[in-house]
Amino acid sequence: MEKEPIVKVRNLVAAYGDLTVLKGVDLDIYPGESIAILGRSGCGKSTLLRHMIGLAKPKSGTVTIKGQEINSLNEDGKVELFKKIGMLFQSAALFNSMTVGDNVSFPLREHTSLEESTIQIMTKMKLDMVGLTGFDDFKPAQLSGGMKKRAGLARAISMDPEVLFCDEPSAGLDPVVAAGLDNLILKLKKAFKMTIVVVTHEMESVFTFADRIAMMHLGKILAVGTPEELKNSSDPIVQQFLNREPDKEEIDRDQYLKTILGS
Ligand SMILES: Nc1ncnc2c1ncn2[C@@H]1O[C@H](COP(=O)(O)OP(=O)(O)OP(=O)(O)O)[C@@H](O)[C@H]1O
Ligand SMILES: [Mg+2]
Repeated sequence: MEKEPIVKVRNLVAAYGDLTVLKGVDLDIYPGESIAILGRSGCGKSTLLRHMIGLAKPKSGTVTIKGQEINSLNEDGKVELFKKIGMLFQSAALFNSMTVGDNVSFPLREHTSLEESTIQIMTKMKLDMVGLTGFDDFKPAQLSGGMKKRAGLARAISMDPEVLFCDEPSAGLDPVVAAGLDNLILKLKKAFKMTIVVVTHEMESVFTFADRIAMMHLGKILAVGTPEELKNSSDPIVQQFLNREPDKEEIDRDQYLKTILGS
């Protein structure tokens, strides 16, 4: 791809106290592509997303979005840039005291001077898109886990962002709803030419919507490429992940169980 990246991550190092989680991450994300970020639980995927949207400050390294280095922006600059970004958090992170409708319209109320009637229409459209028609007046506590995720997605896309970051959008959802979300993400990409960055463990989803996969391991990006390229990778860690093979340690555990159960 020859285009200029819309998101550029350079030598990003991130730590929580003494624990260094990202150890020099480099990643380019191109306009209009959908990229899946894969990696073992705890390897730093959510941490990387939080740094990419400027919610956390790196120890060193940079994140550049649309040519602007996010940590060099002042507050106004950040607000302007973040209007172009949507984020679906791993936990959905809805405001519990607000209705679903108010959650979805919150970014519009905060960042635009649209008329209330327009905001209402836009909110309804986004709720329709995620299959939550008629749930405007529900509180998050009255929704199922999957519905919360979808409401979070409706909020993330309320401003029609250029880049949408999703942290495990379909984790914990039933397969039908999960497939629906994958389709929705594909639709957003096609209809709005959105750039989409998705952290996921669902391999089926990856092969449905990802143009490219970035695989994280030990605080770095181990491999980046099209699903086809990664399938053909000779790296044993990439293969273990894509083929869902258990750790050696887990195989030993299996052996142990067989020994004590005598079969
Ligand atoms: N707020 C925090 N304070 C301290 N340590 C943290 C914090 N958030 C994450 N960590 C640590 O950083 C590491 C990476 O966490 P992160 O949430 O980025 O992983 P992940 O790849 O998203 O995992 P999962 O697939 O389970 O969501 C973990 O060891 C975790 O314990
Ligand atoms: Mg995570």
